[in-house]
Amino acid sequence: MKRPRNKNKFALFLIATAIVVLAIYLVAHFDYPLRELLRARLLRAQMGGLAPPADTIIDALRLILFAILAYLAVRALNSLIFDLVFRFRRGYEAPTLVRNIFSIIAFTALFFLIFTLVFPQVNLGALFTTSAIFGVILGLALQDTLGNFFAGISLQADRPFQVGDVITVGVQRHTGVVEEITWRAIKVRTFQNHIVLISNSNAAKEPIEVCPRENLNARLVFFNTLYTDSPAKAIHVVREAVREADNVSQKITPIVRMRNLGDSGVEYEVKYWLENYAKYNDTDALVRQRIWYAFRRANLNFAYPTRTLLVERKQKIGERDGDGGAIIERLAAVDIFAPLSTEETGMLAQAATSHVFAPGETVIRAGDPGSSMFVVHSGRVSVQVSENGRQRTVATLSDGAFFGEMALFTGEPRTANVVALEETEVLEIGHAAMKRVFDTNPDLVESLSHIIAERRQALAASEDLSGGRKDESAGLLSSIKRFFGLN
Ligand code: CMP
Repeated sequence: MKRPRNKNKFALFLIATAIVVLAIYLVAHFDYPLRELLRARLLRAQMGGLAPPADTIIDALRLILFAILAYLAVRALNSLIFDLVFRFRRGYEAPTLVRNIFSIIAFTALFFLIFTLVFPQVNLGALFTTSAIFGVILGLALQDTLGNFFAGISLQADRPFQVGDVITVGVQRHTGVVEEITWRAIKVRTFQNHIVLISNSNAAKEPIEVCPRENLNARLVFFNTLYTDSPAKAIHVVREAVREADNVSQKITPIVRMRNLGDSGVEYEVKYWLENYAKYNDTDALVRQRIWYAFRRANLNFAYPTRTLLVERKQKIGERDGDGGAIIERLAAVDIFAPLSTEETGMLAQAATSHVFAPGETVIRAGDPGSSMFVVHSGRVSVQVSENGRQRTVATLSDGAFFGEMALFTGEPRTANVVALEETEVLEIGHAAMKRVFDTNPDLVESLSHIIAERRQALAASEDLSGGRKDESAGLLSSIKRFFGLN
């Protein structure tokens, strides 16, 4: 569409130039006969009154023809500089305002030159300087226009935004893509495909939010989940779903974070960066769609305002709906509990309490007193000891492993920090429940004392205190028995 229009314009330009050049040639060629003819006509018309202005008319005609030629030359120069050179070197279209200013200055200069050549006797400078009143009147009449014009110039000088950038202007928050900056206004195409014209003088006074085309601009999209859904899981699932979406920049990984613990659920925001900011409406929509599908696949749930009447009842693990079986299975799979009967494992499960820890949270702190042990139900923890002020991992424990038994069975303070490496659910078993198990399974004490002795050895090795601690499980056995009041 653009090419044929440009071709037409060029042909029109050539025809106009040819006509003007021909007219200039004819006026120059028939200068004398024309003047004579005009003089005779005017003489006859005025019947010997004032001196005939035939020369002035011819000169004015020449001035007009040369001025038209100058205008055409300025337009040609404008196209050459801005359509070819500027566009080629800068890669984008020159602002209309700059083009117009160039044309006005070039044309005024040429006009002055032509005028002084055609009318050497007239002092054009004096003519302008003496017409002060004319200037005042013109100034008042063009107050708004000039305001826009100069505001436009200052916008161009500042270059806070360019054609193609997305801007939001003023209290009415007009948002759209900048299409053109003229001597009067900024032309913005909104996302409803409307054109909004913001006058330059208004734009100069209002705050403008600019999202440059060449910049990685970010967006925030909000969503929520039920309180029962795991935050670590929701964050992971949404981050992975969003980073794959079209127009989401691969250069920066989207950030998903909790915004609020709201009335109906946990509120999150996902921040992502766009390749092409002008398409943010489509991309926001796509991101929301991806979140919906990802939620469905991962069994996550959006929260919506609900009122649930809960009659509180203290809940033990064994009583949990549908979960009790899994807890019994988990405890039965722990090697030290292998000798227990199904009933005994069931009793242990009843007594156990479940706790969920976020990645990085501390489950056990070294030095704290402790009267319970833990079984990892799901997830992973790391056992860390402090060495020269830094944490060193001595073991990583996952599903089915247990920890915290040392303080429980010996009554000594916790020997290490235990930190969740990912979202981890642990089952806590207290002193009373263990004592019940020991009463019926005295052999258990022995196998436990071996494990504790081994772990102590590993700890001692890391502290470089191995000497003298080698065979202490026999001593441990009797101290555990003493602590639990067993024979
Ligand atoms: P407790 O001392 O009660 O608290 C810290 C726990 O870390 C400790 O019990 C053990 O269960 C566990 N722990 C300490 N050292 C080791 C190790 N070397 N391997 C596995 N677990 C350990």
